[in-house]
Amino acid sequence: MTINTSTRIVLLGGTSGIGLATARAAADAGASVVIGSRNPASVERALAELPAGVIGHTVDASSSDDVARFFDAVGEFDHFAYTAAENLSSVPIEEFTVERGLAFFSLRVIHALDAVRLAVPHLRTGGSITLTSGTAAFAGGPGWVLGSAASGATISAVRSLAVELAPLRVNAVAPGVVRSPLWGLMSEADREAMYRSASESLPLGRVAETSDVAKAYLALMDQDHVTGTVSVVDGGALVS
Ligand SMILES: NC(=O)c1ccc[n+]([C@@H]2O[C@H](COP(=O)([O-])OP(=O)(O)OC[C@H]3O[C@@H](n4cnc5c(N)ncnc54)[C@H](OP(=O)(O)O)[C@@H]3O)[C@@H](O)[C@H]2O)c1
Repeated sequence: MTINTSTRIVLLGGTSGIGLATARAAADAGASVVIGSRNPASVERALAELPAGVIGHTVDASSSDDVARFFDAVGEFDHFAYTAAENLSSVPIEEFTVERGLAFFSLRVIHALDAVRLAVPHLRTGGSITLTSGTAAFAGGPGWVLGSAASGATISAVRSLAVELAPLRVNAVAPGVVRSPLWGLMSEADREAMYRSASESLPLGRVAETSDVAKAYLALMDQDHVTGTVSVVDGGALVS
């Protein structure tokens, strides 16, 4: 299914970072785009940046009722991507608590799956779902146990969903380090130092921009014969 003016794309978490860049790329490709996130100010700010015609809703992905209302208001669509997440912080295992673990998994994995359940009745024939993982699924590091575990869980879930929901297609995108507001809990100096050090170790010499990652979401929506896969966008991190 080629993305064109008759394509409707819904992005939950589409008001910032990777989701916002995907909304921009989808709108530039001519699709009609709906974005949603929890904070009304984020929705307004995103709509002001995006091309005219993009529609925005306030929706809390951690509330099943809210997400059901969101999809009911949107109606039918062709492609759904889930990028909702709280800002990231590293959690060394000695600082792990059950509460922190549950909170991390809740929005990134559990509510992503709930959003899939609620999206399915609205998806047109030939449609697709794209969830968000991360390269931490394949190569972790100190402090990233939750990121690794949730990213791995998402990829595993996609493999089952692709079979269960066929002929709907279900895939994941696994970004490496991306310049995005996700890192907003770090000071600007620490964040830039992290980007610099990651860039130096990458074969492609720079961390990803959100627009790089957006291309992977659009490609997975566009590609009719791919399901149950993960598209890695990491500048070569996993092979270096
Ligand atoms: N950036 C990276 O380096 C990187 C690397 C690997 C994987 N990832 C993954 O990619 C995904 C997206 O990251 P990003 O960089 O785009 O992050 P981001 O810029 O912080 O965007 C996160 C989005 O989620 C929304 N959101 C948060 N809580 C929500 C809720 N309860 N209900 C609905 N929307 C909610 C935010 O909107 P509000 O402002 O309204 O809360 C925002 O639009 C995450 O799963 C992240 O782990 C990112």
